[in-house]
Amino acid sequence: MTGSSNPRRTPARNLPSGEERARLVRDMFDRIAGRYELLNAVMTAGLYKLWNRKVVRATGLRPGDTALDLACGTGSLTRALANAVGPTGSVLGVDFSSEMLRAAEARPAPNVEYRLGDATDLQGVPSGRFDAAAIAYGARNIPDLDGLFAEMNRVLRPGGQAVCLEIARPAGKLAGAFYGLWFDRIVPRVGGVISGDAHAYSYLPESVKEFVAPGELAVIMERNGLQNVTWSRLGGGIITLHSGTGSRDGPR
Ligand SMILES: C[S@@+](CC[C@H](N)C(=O)[O-])C[C@H]1O[C@@H](n2cnc3c(N)ncnc32)[C@H](O)[C@@H]1O
Repeated sequence: MTGSSNPRRTPARNLPSGEERARLVRDMFDRIAGRYELLNAVMTAGLYKLWNRKVVRATGLRPGDTALDLACGTGSLTRALANAVGPTGSVLGVDFSSEMLRAAEARPAPNVEYRLGDATDLQGVPSGRFDAAAIAYGARNIPDLDGLFAEMNRVLRPGGQAVCLEIARPAGKLAGAFYGLWFDRIVPRVGGVISGDAHAYSYLPESVKEFVAPGELAVIMERNGLQNVTWSRLGGGIITLHSGTGSRDGPR
């Protein structure tokens, strides 16, 4: 499912890439879908709600607007975006895990549609369709980052906002030590116990380790047509928030 033909794809070290990575990720989220939101709340000490609000603010969405939530999972950010656009707006959530979508659809809203699909190949979605497009904790699961951001730029109207929230390895020593303890030791154990899937929660720190540095992510966004890309760190450095503006430019 994930596009595997792009020569500029970031090479993975321990994790597979292309089709094999996509299958691993999809199967894993299918297995943990029922416990995902509980685990997210525990792992982030409830902070994911605050970070969702930061994403919504960064999109600049207003009532009546249209938004896209890529790798929407169980719809936590999708619902926050739907609140921002209100009853006259609409949000499309796209994910390739049918079980994550099933959990999302258990909390329906009249202004939200969920669709099974690949974030790097949004078939049937017209160009320039959205005022904002967001992805939260999804990019690090997608080896074809060029494909992801080229699609985001394509479906955004020129001037619309693209926002990417992701877990990152913090730069500072103290935050780095905390991160090492939390993500490398506690998360795999606690996540394994709550989800009953030890592999899923050892994948998480591994995927963060292999993800591109924040500056490199900004370069990837820009070379796929997004403009004025900026990024900042949240949560003591363990979260990054990137934003860029949609343009008519294609990938460079
Ligand atoms: C960590 S969850 C994040 C879910 C949600 N965005 C949130 O904020 O809770 C990552 C999601 O990315 C989805 N995903 C990974 N690769 C994808 C792809 N290529 N296309 C669509 N969804 C993808 C997974 O199925 C999973 O639901």
